[in-house]
Amino acid sequence: MTKTTAVPSNVPNPVEQRVADLLARMTLTEKVGQMRQVNASEGHPPDYLAALIRAGSVGAVINQADVHVINELQRLAVEESRLGIPLLVGRDVIHGFRTIFPIPLGQAATWNPELVREGARVAALEAAAAGINWTFAPMIDIARDPRWGRIAESFGEDVFLTAALAVAMVEGLQGDDLSSPGSIAACAKHFAGYGAVESGCDYATTNIPENQLRNVYLPPFKAAVEVGVATLMTSFSDIDGVPGTANAFLLRQILRNEWGFPGVVVSDWDSVHQLQIHGLTENDGESAFEAVTAGVDMEMAGDVYANHLAALVESGRIAIGMIDAAVANVLRTKFQLGLFEHPYVEPAAHPSPGSEHALLAAKRMAAQSVVMLKNDSRTLPLSIQQLSSVAIIGPLADAPYEQLGTWIFDGDVALSVTPLEAIRTLLGDAVEVRHLRAMENSRSRETEAFNEAVEAAHACDVAILFLGEESILSGEAHSRADIHLPGDQAKLVQRIRETGTPVVAVIMAGRPLTLANIVDDVDALLFAWHPGTMAGPAIADLLFGRESPSGKLPVSFPRMVGQVPIYYSHKNSGKPPSPDNIVHIDDIDTFAEQTSVGMTSFHLDAGYTPLFAFGHGLSYAEFEYDHIRTGAHTVSIGDAVTISAELTNKSDIAADEVAQLYVRDLAGSVTRPIRQLAGFQRLRLEPGQTVTVAFRLHTDDLAFYGRDQNLAAEPGEFHAWIGGSSETELRTEFRIVASG
Ligand code: GLC
Repeated sequence: MTKTTAVPSNVPNPVEQRVADLLARMTLTEKVGQMRQVNASEGHPPDYLAALIRAGSVGAVINQADVHVINELQRLAVEESRLGIPLLVGRDVIHGFRTIFPIPLGQAATWNPELVREGARVAALEAAAAGINWTFAPMIDIARDPRWGRIAESFGEDVFLTAALAVAMVEGLQGDDLSSPGSIAACAKHFAGYGAVESGCDYATTNIPENQLRNVYLPPFKAAVEVGVATLMTSFSDIDGVPGTANAFLLRQILRNEWGFPGVVVSDWDSVHQLQIHGLTENDGESAFEAVTAGVDMEMAGDVYANHLAALVESGRIAIGMIDAAVANVLRTKFQLGLFEHPYVEPAAHPSPGSEHALLAAKRMAAQSVVMLKNDSRTLPLSIQQLSSVAIIGPLADAPYEQLGTWIFDGDVALSVTPLEAIRTLLGDAVEVRHLRAMENSRSRETEAFNEAVEAAHACDVAILFLGEESILSGEAHSRADIHLPGDQAKLVQRIRETGTPVVAVIMAGRPLTLANIVDDVDALLFAWHPGTMAGPAIADLLFGRESPSGKLPVSFPRMVGQVPIYYSHKNSGKPPSPDNIVHIDDIDTFAEQTSVGMTSFHLDAGYTPLFAFGHGLSYAEFEYDHIRTGAHTVSIGDAVTISAELTNKSDIAADEVAQLYVRDLAGSVTRPIRQLAGFQRLRLEPGQTVTVAFRLHTDDLAFYGRDQNLAAEPGEFHAWIGGSSETELRTEFRIVASG
C-alpha cells in the first residue's frame, strides 16, 4: 500500500523536493487556485472555466465523467496555464462506476474485506478509464440511526467492522501504487461524527462527547489514515457547536498532530459558505478564515476561498505559510498520483466497463450481501424440480434502476439484471412464472391491483414478494421518520398470506426497516439492501439453492423506530434489563403499582432487544459452535491471548459462515460496551466439517480512550464470546494484568 507520508525523512524525498520547488515558483493567485475545486458538470469546458484554468485558478474539478471533456480540461491546465499543474478530477464513485456493487451497507453485510477490496478495485479501474483520478469514498461514518438516509452509504453501526472495510475500500481504490493506471485517490468521509445527527435527520446537529468521539466515531478514520488514504472530507454537520469544516480540534489536533495525516482535507459541497448559515460566521470572509485556519486545504464547489483567501493573506490575518502548507498537500497528492507524468487518459488502454470480471465480482458480492433473516419450515431453498408455478409479486421485482441504490451517478442501468429476469432465465420452461407488479411503486396506496396478485399467488406453488424502498428513499437528504415498508406493502403481504400459499419476501432497501408488522406473515425473509447491477442472478441463485445465504447484519433492526438508537455495543447502564425484570405493556394489570413493572432500562411497548440483532444471518447449512477456550486466563499488557472455538457444519451442504469474536471489558476508567466485535472470519465449511476458529487478541486491540482521553488497555476482567451473531452465549473469560 502506498503510504502517503509527507514528512521528509533524512533521505532526500523526490516528491517533497518537487513540491517545494513548484511551490516556490507559484504566485499567491496560483496557490489559492490549487485550493479550489470547481463544478465542471457542463459538457465542453465553458469559456469562464477555461479562462480560470488558464489563469491557474483551479486545482480540481468535480462531476465531469466524460473522458474527452476531462482530457480537454487537463490540456487547458497542463498546456495553457503558466505552471502546467494538472487537475484533480473528482467524482462520487461510492459503490461502483458503470458496474454497480451493493450499497456500502450491503457490502458490510458480506463481512468480506477481500470482496470489498475487489469491488473498489473494479470501480477504480472503470472510473480511471473515464479520466477520474479522485473519488469521495469510503464513507465511514458510524451509523446507528436507520432514520438517517445516509446509513445506506455507511458500513453500519460497528467500529471494528467499519474500520476493517474502510481499509479494504481504500486499498481497492488506491491500489498498491497511487501512480499506477487504474488507481485513484480515495477520500475518507465525513470527518467526523456525521452519523450522530439528531433524530436521524440529515445535516442536523450532532453532540458527541470527546470520549465517544474517540472511541466510536474516529477509529475508522484512523485506520484509513494508517493505510494511506490520500484525502479526507469534512462533515457538513455541527459538532458540539463547531461544524466539521471549521473544526480545528478534528482537523489540526486529531488529524495532523496526533495522526500525522499528510494528505488533503477537502470541504464538503459548499460547506465553507455554509459556516455562515450554521451561524458560526457573519460573512464569507470570516468563513474562509475559519476553514483555512481549521485546516481545510481545498474548497469543494464553492468560491469563498477564491474570493477571500488572498485578501486574508495580504491583510496579514493569515500567514502565507498556512496557504503554502495547504497547497503542498494538494501538490503532493498530484505528484503521488503521477499526474504530472500522465495527465491524460487513453480509454483504450483501460478495460471496458461492465466486463465479465466486473459483473462476476458484482454478482459474488451481491450474493454474499443478502441476509436471510427468517426461514421457517425450510421454505427456502426452492426446488425447481418440485415447483410447477411461481408468482413474482411487488414493485421491486423488475426495477433495474432502483436495485442499484443511491449514489450511482454513472451506473449503467442497461447492465442491470433484475430478479424477475434472472428467475425467468433460471427456470426456463420448467416452471411457470407469473409476474404481478401489484403496486406502481413502494409508496403506492392504490390496492386495486392486489386482487390479481392474490389470485396469482393462490394459483401458484409459492409467492415471492419483492418489496422495500426505491433508491430515492435513502441516501443524502433522504431521511425518514417512520421506517416501516412504505405505502401499503404490508397490506399486500397480508393479502398474499391469506391465500395460504408459502410466502417468501425479498426486501430491497437502503436502511434497516421496522419489519415487525410483516415478519409473521412471511415464511422466509431475505434482506437484500440495494444489491446493484447483478441483483437478479445473485438473488435467483440464493432462492433456488445454488448459493446459500451467508450475509450477516452490519446494523441492528429495531422492533419500533422509537427504540432508535438501538445497537448491540451499548453501555450496560446501572439498571440493565433482562427477560425476567421487564413487563410488556399489554401484560400490565389494570391497577398496576408504580414499581410493579420493573425498574430497568427498557421500553414498556418494545422491550430492549432489536427484532434482528447485529451479526444475525441464517444459512441453508446448520452451524454449531462449542468448546470455546482461551489460550491463557491472564495476559500481561503488551502480550496477546488466543480465543478459539470449534465450528461444525452439521448439514449436508457446503456453505460459508462468518464466525464472530466479541469481547467485554467488565470495568474500565470509563464504562465500556456490553459487547464489542473484536474479530471475524468468513469460513467455508464442507458438510460435516469441524474447524477450530482462533482469534489472536493483543492487549493493544483492547485499548480504549479512558477518562484521561489517553489510549490504553487497562488491567481487569474480560469476557469473550465466539458465535454466529452478537447474541451468541458461548463465552470464556480472561484477565489483563499489568505488565511485568
Ligand atoms: C455531497 C456529499 C458528499 C459528496 C459530495 C460530492 O453533498 O455530502 O458525500 O461526496 O457532496 O458530491
